[in-house]
Amino acid sequence: MKQLRSYWHTDPKVQKLHDEFAENTLANFYLPFGVAPNFIINGKEYCIPMAIEESSVVAAAAKAATFWSTRGVFKTSVLAMKKIGHVHFTWNGTDTQRLQDFFDRTKSQLFADTEAITRNMVARGGGILDIELIDKTADEPNYYQLKATFDTCDSMGANFINSVLEEFAKTWEREIEADTELTEAEKDVTIIMCILSNYTPDCIVRAEVSCPVDELAADGNGDTFAAKFQQAIRIATIEPYRATTHNKGIMNGIDSVIIATGNDFRAVEACAHTYASRDGQYRSLTQVEVKDGMFRFWLDIPMALGTVGGLTSLHPMVKLALELLGNPNAGELMEITAVVGLAQNFAAVRSLVTTGIQKGHMKMHLLNILNQLGATEEERKTIKAHFENKVVSHQEVIQVFCEMRGIPAPAPQVKK
Ligand code: MEV
Repeated sequence: MKQLRSYWHTDPKVQKLHDEFAENTLANFYLPFGVAPNFIINGKEYCIPMAIEESSVVAAAAKAATFWSTRGVFKTSVLAMKKIGHVHFTWNGTDTQRLQDFFDRTKSQLFADTEAITRNMVARGGGILDIELIDKTADEPNYYQLKATFDTCDSMGANFINSVLEEFAKTWEREIEADTELTEAEKDVTIIMCILSNYTPDCIVRAEVSCPVDELAADGNGDTFAAKFQQAIRIATIEPYRATTHNKGIMNGIDSVIIATGNDFRAVEACAHTYASRDGQYRSLTQVEVKDGMFRFWLDIPMALGTVGGLTSLHPMVKLALELLGNPNAGELMEITAVVGLAQNFAAVRSLVTTGIQKGHMKMHLLNILNQLGATEEERKTIKAHFENKVVSHQEVIQVFCEMRGIPAPAPQVKK
């Protein structure tokens, strides 16, 4: 209990907010909230908030940001911003054209019956873009969908979309019952479920960087670096084992911005991995081209983000994060987030094909090891100096620490 209490906010009002974000809240669960400075995106400088526990992620993003700040700088564009939801239902008729005719007769009613829900969104410039009837009977007997596309402006839109879909279902059942052209047998419809899709291939952003190959490496080996980098991306494109780790690195950056800005990282993760498998094989989300002496590296990634609604105006740290970014709209937040994913991947692949990942990774992890050991400030300084130009290994840190204290190093633990 003491432990839980020590994680409560000192201001009871703020604690109450946190208690009410979810059910059965006992305490708050901290993640480091850091910033990666020096990002130049479409000519504007950003210091990007990131919430993540993995020690090297913020450092890697910041390093890539600085690298690109004097080269090609990041360019982005939102390619589309449509979201999708479905009413999944079964229909026991046999002539799909007759269902299509019923849909054509009913479509305007579907729009009309949802006006109370869509009014505010329409006033903000969004709403329901279209509704289609989809025949899925080739995959599942009697299975059809009402597939709707939405523009949810600056909100992620999950509640809006689900409310509209549930209203569609009511209209659909009512109108089919009242229809005078369908036979009684053709009125046999069962709504299975109404839900948005977290796969949003038409809510997608591109982030890219490019520069002359010569500028990639200070030692004049830009060509070698570019060739190795390109090979690494090719491997992540053709080999799902590597693609998974490669994309995990991208998501290190993306998730940390998404968490800091109060968005739904599970939705973005699910969407990214479906997109990475869109041709039937799981592949790299980033792509590279080396052509005519130019290196071009880019990431296309679908993601549904919001800068209004949800936690965005409630969670004090989320508000701060959005302020740090200049209160972006949803499209701008997509761009910023994609850039961090691209930067993260550049930093990881650059390390992998040059120094190896452990040099930087373990350097950042050193503090965690020292904390586990309970090292004093003085001991931390000495041990950090010891590893200044060396790859940190967990075992060697323990050894140096024990030598300093004049205590025997513990025997490696063997699991029984
Ligand atoms: C570690 O969290 C992420 C990396 O493994 C990504 C990668 O291998 O590309 C470094």
